[in-house]
Amino acid sequence: MSAPATPPAAGVPVLETRGVTRDYVSGGVFGGTRTVRALKGIDLKVDRGSTLAVVGESGCGKSTLARIITMIDAPSGGELLIDGEKVDIARTGVPPDLRRKVQIVFQNPYGSLNPRQKIGDVLAEPLKLNTSLSAAERRDRAMEMLLRVGLRGQHFNRYPHMFSGGQRQRIAIARAIMVHPALLVLDEPVSALDLSVQAQILNLLQDLQDEYDLTYVFISHDLSVVRHVADEVMVMNLGEAVEYRSRDAIFAAPEHPYTRTLFAATPRIDVDRIRARVARKTAARG
Ligand SMILES: Nc1ncnc2c1ncn2[C@@H]1O[C@H](COP(=O)(O)OP(=O)(O)OP(=O)(O)O)[C@@H](O)[C@H]1O
Ligand SMILES: [Mg+2]
Repeated sequence: MSAPATPPAAGVPVLETRGVTRDYVSGGVFGGTRTVRALKGIDLKVDRGSTLAVVGESGCGKSTLARIITMIDAPSGGELLIDGEKVDIARTGVPPDLRRKVQIVFQNPYGSLNPRQKIGDVLAEPLKLNTSLSAAERRDRAMEMLLRVGLRGQHFNRYPHMFSGGQRQRIAIARAIMVHPALLVLDEPVSALDLSVQAQILNLLQDLQDEYDLTYVFISHDLSVVRHVADEVMVMNLGEAVEYRSRDAIFAAPEHPYTRTLFAATPRIDVDRIRARVARKTAARG
């Protein structure tokens, strides 16, 4: 892997947004147009190696924010900075080095896996685009990563439909970190999985974060998951960040009325169950 041209200065957040807005305009053929402001000025900073959890109800703008951070979509206003570098994809497109640096994992990886591509090729492909490694070297790296995320050698030549949901999420995570990104945006990565599988995937993400010095933006509507993974928590409501503090502070004493309502709606049992499972797994590994 080639090093970034200019290493970021110490102390510069991996991710920063300043007053990011996003408008969606609809209608217009017969009647007037309608503009929805899905993001109303989001300011955030995420330091290297840490996890920002973004939490809020359906439609509050979480995926819209994810698309802007991962440069799939341009903001309507405000600024996006990756490693201190201003990004303006509407004007310049996505610089290749930044494309590598920021990766995304979706809730349903099936939608982003080509059903006719073997898993070994899925994992080797990002290396083809981003490195000058030979085909044999790409294969070796893909196999290494396959094993690293808890799959087995014999899975290398299988197709996506031959895996369980949890295994497919391992594949999506493996593909995302093949090119050693700095920032991984995870949009509801465990929401479609059973609780026991959720705990396994959360443990895997935690291990990979330490190993690869990854920075996470972890999007979830599930507070028990957020409590487990987050360093900082941003609570969103209707496109706004209503509360943005450390996990410990926010869970100890949620300040904003919306946060309190959201917390009151989370069944306590899920938190305890996930914690117990995660503790058992950690004990088993250590
Ligand atoms: N392409 C689009 N065109 C028009 N409106 C959109 C578009 N994408 C999102 N929206 C609107 O923007 C708002 C935020 O949507 P977004 O998908 O970001 O929410 P979310 O927090 O990810 O929700 P969920 O938890 O259901 O995934 C919603 O009101 C949604 O209807
Ligand atoms: Mg969403």
